[in-house]
Amino acid sequence: MNATVSIDGDLVPAGKARVPVFDRGFLYGDSVYEVVRTYDLEPFELGPHLARLTASAERIALRLPWSGERMERELRRVVQASADEAIPDPAAAPWNVGERSVRIVVTRGSGEMGLDPGLAAHPTVVIIAVPLSGPPLSAYRLGVSVWPFGGPGGPSRGGDPAAKTGEHLFHVLAVREALAHDAQEALLVDRDGRVTEGASSNVFAIRDGVLETPPLQAGLLAGVTRAFVLGLARDLGIPVREQPLPLEGLERADEAFLTSTVREVLPVVRVGNRRVGSAAPGPVTARIHAAFRERAGGGHKRGKVAGPG
Ligand code: PDD
Repeated sequence: MNATVSIDGDLVPAGKARVPVFDRGFLYGDSVYEVVRTYDLEPFELGPHLARLTASAERIALRLPWSGERMERELRRVVQASADEAIPDPAAAPWNVGERSVRIVVTRGSGEMGLDPGLAAHPTVVIIAVPLSGPPLSAYRLGVSVWPFGGPGGPSRGGDPAAKTGEHLFHVLAVREALAHDAQEALLVDRDGRVTEGASSNVFAIRDGVLETPPLQAGLLAGVTRAFVLGLARDLGIPVREQPLPLEGLERADEAFLTSTVREVLPVVRVGNRRVGSAAPGPVTARIHAAFRERAGGGHKRGKVAGPG
């Protein structure tokens, strides 16, 4: 496996990287995590990611064993130790070539089995760096499809959507359903028929030139990319409305896009069986992504996003 792994501060060969079967992350999803990406091998928005890791840990009363400084040092060490031996992918978006995605996982650790979190005394920190594999360039040029999951009468998610925890079954089933319908991402829809977020992304709509996205109170993860894009939109003078987003509202939007660490700003052209706008990436989305590309880095690798070829 082309991964570089550190467990509790020790680099271990990927094939030998193991945590005990008594680890609470394995048994109960009792863990928090982050996914950070690099541009020119420099971690992007690391401060906000580490702040969210701390916030997630606080929300589940998990004591992070390391300071932010130690976490940053170890993350950089793992990135430095990682080699990109991936076979070059001609379909890759140019700004992803040679970059890493880094997962930080902190579990509550191992102990006697039982739900009582006090049974484990020492949290475990795992850091995994892999060659970044984002959406292909064609996905940015043509847009992607998303598939709704949940909704009134459907399965509903548990847990705390604001905490980035290891508990993921709802998201796994949502993605399974999306893939079965040839969609690239699942849309999580709440009991009131409102879209909250994607399975691993945040969701935006554009209507009459206004950028709309569900507010954090709607029950979603405070995406680092979401915050970055809201800042960009304000700088670009694009009006922003954080308000509930009914599924039909998204279907009838002029444009839509997803944001996440590995996706940046990814145009959506189909929601379920319905086309969004003209079923092609829209001009406001293109403007926001172009501004993102300018700001985020990747320097020499900034690819042309818009346009058919
Ligand atoms: N997921 N919502 C959910 C439920 C997520 O899991 C993620 C990110 C996001 C977007 O957040 P950000 O912009 O900070 O990446 C929104 C990570 C990337 C993952 O699970 O791979």
